[in-house]
Amino acid sequence: MKKILIVGNWKLYVTEVEDAKNLASGLKKKLSKIHTIDTILLPSAPLISTVSAVVKKTSIAVGAQTVSPFLDGAHTGYESAAALKSAGVKWALVGHSERRAGESEEVIQAQVQAAVKAGLSVILCVGETERDTQGAHFSLIERQLSSALARFPTSPAGGRTKLIVAYEPVWAIGKNAAEACKPADLEEMSIFIRRALTELFDRAAATKIPILYGGSVDGSNARELLTQGGVSGFLVGRASADAKSLFEIIDACKG
Ligand code: PGA
Repeated sequence: MKKILIVGNWKLYVTEVEDAKNLASGLKKKLSKIHTIDTILLPSAPLISTVSAVVKKTSIAVGAQTVSPFLDGAHTGYESAAALKSAGVKWALVGHSERRAGESEEVIQAQVQAAVKAGLSVILCVGETERDTQGAHFSLIERQLSSALARFPTSPAGGRTKLIVAYEPVWAIGKNAAEACKPADLEEMSIFIRRALTELFDRAAATKIPILYGGSVDGSNARELLTQGGVSGFLVGRASADAKSLFEIIDACKG
């Protein structure tokens, strides 16, 4: 059975070393008896080493919330993919809407390429700001995918660099469960994204790329979105930064 994937994007909700430690070790304990769920935690950069130490030798992976488009050189204040890799990070989140606000499509493409070059796997976020009745959001998603993945290795699922696509409609982020994407709309979008990935990669590789949903997921809507939305799991923001709400999502997903 394919495992369900839950990515916890802690954003800047978790800022204390002790809180990061407690949350990661609570998750480790919770997952010790659950074998149907894989998780990736995305702490802010100063907390990466703390979390990595706690989850060492477990199925919980660690990723970075962003990555520099440059691997090295005179670029103050950005995290290099090479440095992240060397610190034990496995994944880089690229194209989150909270970063896209100040990062162009070219920068996002360069971030993906830097991550791949350094051997990091990529969680690529795509999502429209608003929807209209003409369906313009579909062509926008297609553009975001083809631009960011223009030079991604053609067989992402099999190679050492893996890819996850997270559909995160901006209008649904940071709200409440009732304002999340509706399962039927999500299913339509997952089919669309899968088809777009098939154009970019070969079919066998495209089928293996997990498509996640993000935007106001919590314990009350996770099950329905998972069973009816055609996704492999979730990219969770606010609810991933609190043990109780994160565990509610895990319980809703574990089957
Ligand atoms: P949210 O955020 O779960 O707080 O809506 C999701 C995200 O931005 O990744």
